[in-house]
Amino acid sequence: RTVYVNGQYLPENEATVSIFDRGFLFADGVYEVTSVIGGKLLDFDGHAVRLERSLNELEMAHPVTKDELLEIHRQLVERNEITDGLVYLQITRGAADRDFAYPKDAEPTIVLFTQNKPGLAQSPVADKGMKVISIEDQRWGRRDIKTVQLLYPSMGKMAAKAQGADDAWMVEDGFVTEGTSNNAYIIKDNVLITRHLGNEILHGITRKAVLEFARVAQITVEERSFTMEEAKAADEAFITSATTFVMPVVQIDDTPIGSGQPGPLTKRLREIYLEESI
Ligand code: PDD
Repeated sequence: RTVYVNGQYLPENEATVSIFDRGFLFADGVYEVTSVIGGKLLDFDGHAVRLERSLNELEMAHPVTKDELLEIHRQLVERNEITDGLVYLQITRGAADRDFAYPKDAEPTIVLFTQNKPGLAQSPVADKGMKVISIEDQRWGRRDIKTVQLLYPSMGKMAAKAQGADDAWMVEDGFVTEGTSNNAYIIKDNVLITRHLGNEILHGITRKAVLEFARVAQITVEERSFTMEEAKAADEAFITSATTFVMPVVQIDDTPIGSGQPGPLTKRLREIYLEESI
């Protein structure tokens, strides 16, 4: 694989980053994941805009312009012959002597690589649906910034696997925040419900697109908090993310959702999303 590091395209085994990099020492960095389907980047603009916001919130320098970023994405997709897969992008504050305070003169580190995922849009999970467990949301309070501190989501994913489930939905003060790496939705009486934006969740790029498509399709959308009890009593449930698109959830803890099969509105939203975005 060819990867991109600080202005250079290199074979992956020649790419290096300092052990003093603050991404490594403090998780002082942000990232984006953009899907590629049929060689085409999905919603690059949305990811670029959110990246800019994450950098601004952390007072980090912008090492590349949006146009340069698009060119790097395209180059990597082409050089690595990615038809279906993803591009991962990470920017950290850079290398500096270890100190909690931000260094004044560090050069940001920028790294991009691709992952090949043949048949990404034809996942069998989309037909079968996912099982999720509920866990407490113990992440920090600025989940709107897409930082690389992902240990709690990893722990959640491991807890789910240990229980034979696919993922975990997190609960804070009695309300569902989101999935470990995706936004969470329920449908009740044909109303689509998903948590409102705030510091408690990541402002998903797929979320934004799906809500727009839902409104165009005349589906009533409510952006508000919902409890786990409400979710378990819902007709349908699903998640969204750049790599799963719209993915049905058919069980939460021990409770089947609706018929226990992917719901009709969920299927329709997945079809619309894939049709309109690719
Ligand atoms: N995760 N919420 C969280 C906590 C996430 O990590 C993600 C994305 C989302 C969905 O955002 P988007 O639709 O912009 O992908 C919501 C990525 C895919 C990841 O970490 O791999």
